Amino acid sequence: MCGIVGYVGNKQAAPILLAGLEKLEYRGYDSAGIAVRNGDGETDIVKAKGRLSALAHKTDQGRAVLGTCGIGHTRWATHGEPSETNAHPHCSDDMNVVGVHNGIIENYQELKAKLMRHDYKFYSETDTEVEIKLIDYYYKKYQGTPVDAINHALVRTRGSYALAVMFKEYPGEIYVAKKDSPMIIGVTDEGAFLGSDVPAILNYTRNVYYIGDMELGKLTPGKVTFYNLDGDEIEKNPVEIDWDAESTDKCGFEHYMMKEIHEQPKAVKETLDMYMNDGKIDFSGLIRNPENSGNPEDKTTLDDVLKNLERIYIVACGSAYHAGAVGKTVIEQLTDIPVEVSLASEFRYCNPKLQKNSLVVVISQSGETADTREAMLLSEERGIPTLAIVNVFGSSIARKADFVMYTAAGPEIAVATTKAYSAQLITLYLLAIRCAELSKSIDENRAKELLAALNQIPAGIEKILEDRERIQWFAAKYANSTDVFFIGRGLDYAIALEGSLKMKEISYIHSEAYAAGELKHGTISLIEHNRLVIGIMTQKDLYEKTISNMAEVKSRGAYLFGLTSYGNYSVEDTVDFAVYIPKGEEVFAASLAIIPLQLLGYYMAVTKGLDVDKPRNLAKSVTVE
Ligand code: F6R
Repeated sequence: MCGIVGYVGNKQAAPILLAGLEKLEYRGYDSAGIAVRNGDGETDIVKAKGRLSALAHKTDQGRAVLGTCGIGHTRWATHGEPSETNAHPHCSDDMNVVGVHNGIIENYQELKAKLMRHDYKFYSETDTEVEIKLIDYYYKKYQGTPVDAINHALVRTRGSYALAVMFKEYPGEIYVAKKDSPMIIGVTDEGAFLGSDVPAILNYTRNVYYIGDMELGKLTPGKVTFYNLDGDEIEKNPVEIDWDAESTDKCGFEHYMMKEIHEQPKAVKETLDMYMNDGKIDFSGLIRNPENSGNPEDKTTLDDVLKNLERIYIVACGSAYHAGAVGKTVIEQLTDIPVEVSLASEFRYCNPKLQKNSLVVVISQSGETADTREAMLLSEERGIPTLAIVNVFGSSIARKADFVMYTAAGPEIAVATTKAYSAQLITLYLLAIRCAELSKSIDENRAKELLAALNQIPAGIEKILEDRERIQWFAAKYANSTDVFFIGRGLDYAIALEGSLKMKEISYIHSEAYAAGELKHGTISLIEHNRLVIGIMTQKDLYEKTISNMAEVKSRGAYLFGLTSYGNYSVEDTVDFAVYIPKGEEVFAASLAIIPLQLLGYYMAVTKGLDVDKPRNLAKSVTVE
């Protein structure tokens, strides 16, 4: 949510800032802006409403803005409508302090009132303008260093922030601070770079510094110095990221989403490879974060926790929650461990009763989702161990969890998740099988069969992708639908939830997922002539029940799309359009069944001429609650 970038070095800053913002545009795209110190000691601020391309046009791709030190921002509006006035950077009236911000300053009204008493004027509706002017206020009041001024401001600030600030009297320096919003820094001979996420700086370096909460940094050409809240210097070491720059390009695909759909076999395989050794699951590398236990000698492994497990709570948002819903079914089918799955934004406020010998599993692609992070911290406060399934290395959730299982999906740029969801499913399957092995609810042979089935998933996905033109054809025909219903039972219902979200979030077609048996309890009144109903029927023992529900809506005029496995050809007696997935272990069917549904949402959005990668109002990383 909002992306920030910065650069100071020996090159022209503006083109570098724009290139970085382009990589972060998935975080917000209602307006953008840059501020660059020019050679005369002045700061040029250029902003534009709308997509980044408007700013690029206004600045001749950055060429028209001179100077080698600057900051930039791409916005997802929280306070104030998308407009040039509300776009960042914001500055003090005398341009003494100029800054960009990602996050929310919760007490900005109070701070604004205080500053107004000191004759500060405000032009935008943003909380950011307040924070920048607060820093200016303390800089002038105490006449200290920029670090002192930022520290004074932060002590009085409540909320979340990643801030990048330039001071008129300190040319060639960018100051940064963060709390609960992501920020990384990279340093090369060409300069120092900052960004909200790795893709912003991956073209320049793979060695990044993670700035911690309530820490500050000063970027100068080729150097970064870190400080704590007392203003004392602190040491940090860079971490090498194993993502390559190519992974953030479209590589010939029209959209990132299609590229990422095609990367799913690789994401699945690489995630599997991370946790398998010699044909067996190997979790021996998953050791408790010693910072959480306060004991550097703590060598508790995830296996130690799984051995005594009596309950699992899965907590996540959006598609990650849908992956959790699949995970619940799979774990409960393979083990006797009960699983509860909750939306993170609800979990936090329902005073959850967490039982002893349990594990809280949080799932997040970005590792920055505010509700998920807070739910995890709440669980830790209550003494329950946490396991985070996360895609982004070094993200807030990954750093604060007791245990982390990374997914190997690589950078996901399209706002609608595809490959990260698929990698989350694989991680949950591995967790389910490992729990089953440790609790002896399956024997060695069954474990082998299940692992062999997991290894078949990448090939299964490839096969479905080869047949994508049928889905494209269907999507072109039904892209003018206004309402679509997805139905399924059990695991198929969990798949329906994700299929429906994929469709509505990018094609703007209203769609709903229903447990097939629930239709008759109200929703069926919405079925009318030619209403598209998508039935998911991957589970043998539920097939007949769902087919009957399909027949019920057909007799009320619905047009039926049926998704089932090869072999179930009798489905064509009922449905109007059938799509088949390869046969395999039914318990892992979500990994295959989701592919045609992702393609369907994608092609419907493309047919409607929509911006698939950046759907309206959305942002990829939801760092506000
Ligand atoms: C939908 C989608 C979102 C995310 C949700 C959680 O396609 O991507 O629903 O799944 O915002 O985000 P993460 O996984 O980053 O916590």
